[in-house]
Amino acid sequence: MTTAPRFTTLVDSLPSTIPFVGPETLERQRGEAFQVRVGANESAFGVSPKAVEAMWEAVANIAWYNDPEAYDLRNAIAARHGVSLDEVLLGAGIDEMLGNVVRMVIEPGMPVVTSLGAYPTFNYHVAGFGGVLEAVPYRDDRIDLEALLDAVRRTEARLVYLANPDNPMGTWHDAAQVRAFIDELPESTLLVLDEAYIEFAPASAVFPIDADDPRVIRMRTFSKAHGMAGARIGYAIAPSRTIGGLGRIRNHFGVNRIAQAGALASLGDAEFIASVVDEVARGRNEYHTLARRLGLASVPSATNFVAIDAGGDGDHARALLARLQDEGVFVRMPGVAPLDRCIRVTVGTAGERALFARIFEAVVNETGEKP
Ligand SMILES: Cc1ncc(COP(=O)(O)O)c(C=O)c1O
Repeated sequence: MTTAPRFTTLVDSLPSTIPFVGPETLERQRGEAFQVRVGANESAFGVSPKAVEAMWEAVANIAWYNDPEAYDLRNAIAARHGVSLDEVLLGAGIDEMLGNVVRMVIEPGMPVVTSLGAYPTFNYHVAGFGGVLEAVPYRDDRIDLEALLDAVRRTEARLVYLANPDNPMGTWHDAAQVRAFIDELPESTLLVLDEAYIEFAPASAVFPIDADDPRVIRMRTFSKAHGMAGARIGYAIAPSRTIGGLGRIRNHFGVNRIAQAGALASLGDAEFIASVVDEVARGRNEYHTLARRLGLASVPSATNFVAIDAGGDGDHARALLARLQDEGVFVRMPGVAPLDRCIRVTVGTAGERALFARIFEAVVNETGEKP
């Protein structure tokens, strides 16, 4: 057996896991495409026509490197949030920026706080840089802010992660609660406030970005409401010192010119985003109604997906998920108990929702007994 190349001790110690197995991988495994793709919280409602046009224009110059400073887009983001240019960072999605934040502040062996069952890509990056995760259980399907704060204080963690609204449950905290949480954070702790789903949240959960607080970095994405998940683009806002730190380690040409052009145009198309948000709200209501009709509970959601309680334990939900996949429906589910009693269904188009409802009803009836 060859031992070359020699890995670092850290890489040697890591398991070969990926946070999410892509639907394409699953399709290759089953030898067939899915009929309904409602598992990855992608948008079913397309991209702004203005963004499509801008992206086609960018294709014409694809031989040129992209602007590594993404000046136009960062300016537009800064103007929108009333912050300065040096307080805005772009990345290849929130996922990439999460990795760089961990890399910036965590040395091997340091504690990092998150919630048990929360967004696994963050955990993957923490492991990849040698951090030690302290994961706090949810309370009533919501992130437990008090327990999160206790864990930060107890471990003296430099880094804590909070998604609001949350994935995988879709629940959220109002702005006042998140602000109170931030107020209580120690000076030495950095909060990653992941707002991937903020466009779908009620106004009560949204609060202006204060780029003066060194304890917070806010992250948003073009992957959800803007419908550009495959373009890989998101942004972060934080004080210039934090953004400058990330600037020392970021991949300078990592956000491609098509994505930059599309994001800039999409940012200017508020009407389109509002229409997506409306459609998503309609779809969520449909899923809640469907669950109720089948005698199942569903979790209130401020995102583009709904967690449906499959009516048993994790094994029951996993069996249901496997049956759905057999029938050509791509859905995912939370990874740990007690959240894993649910399956997580992204809002699809009206046609996808109807097809999902039909297959889901049949599978629920066949997998039988509800408690
Ligand atoms: C909470 C949360 N953060 C981040 C992401 C990924 O965002 P991006 O596509 O910008 O990397 C997701 C995607 O599902 C998510 O659910």
